[in-house]
Amino acid sequence: MRRPIIAGNWKMHKDAKETTALIEALTPLVKDAKAEVVFCPTYVNLKDAVTQAEGTNIGIGAQNMHYETQGAFTGEVSGEMLKAIGVQYVVIGHSERREYYNETDEAVNLKAIKALSLGLTPIVCCGETLEEREAGNAQSKVVGQIKAGLKDIDDIEKVVVAYEPIWAIGTGKTASKEEADEACGWVRQTIQDMYGKDAADVVRVQYGGSVKPANIAELMAMDNIDGALVGGASLTEDFAKVVVYD
Ligand code: 13P
Repeated sequence: MRRPIIAGNWKMHKDAKETTALIEALTPLVKDAKAEVVFCPTYVNLKDAVTQAEGTNIGIGAQNMHYETQGAFTGEVSGEMLKAIGVQYVVIGHSERREYYNETDEAVNLKAIKALSLGLTPIVCCGETLEEREAGNAQSKVVGQIKAGLKDIDDIEKVVVAYEPIWAIGTGKTASKEEADEACGWVRQTIQDMYGKDAADVVRVQYGGSVKPANIAELMAMDNIDGALVGGASLTEDFAKVVVYD
């Protein structure tokens, strides 16, 4: 049985006070969640978030990391630095990072390997553009991202994958539950082809893209969907209605 995992990606939202206030407000509302619960605030608020979430069922994740331990990489943060302040998860290869910061599948792979070596749970993102979907290339895009991004991984069962079609992110246009399930199935099949069925059976695959209280239950009912990576709908107390969806 795969335990569902629901993560809020707060992107570049919320200052220090707003971050701890939202965690404080959500803590009692999500305390009985069956799913694993993760909040991903900005780097500068991670330490406060970890402190605020101590003793709760909320895990804290970063939105990115560098694959080197240290060095002349201005503006970057290493996995070791995240680990040292109690961060447990890290989002890797989000489509916004791929688009605006030229993040490649090769970098995603290095980051995933590094995160796992540190005991951080990587949430590795994949997903196609609208043009790719309309041209019938969604599957090849996703399979290619998984093959390159998740190659040579020792403990694949600890990886979480988030399938986020770019056309559904922040647009209010959710993939249908069938489309989302099919694509999460492509991810699982690719992992099976790379690492075997036992591994594929335990890797959790999230759907992301305009997930909200109104659609979470039908998405979670699908065979291949083990959770959600949530942007906009994770920024208010209403996120509790996504986390506690049943
Ligand atoms: P939205 O939920 O705002 O569509 O964002 C999805 C996302 O990018 C989460 O990482």
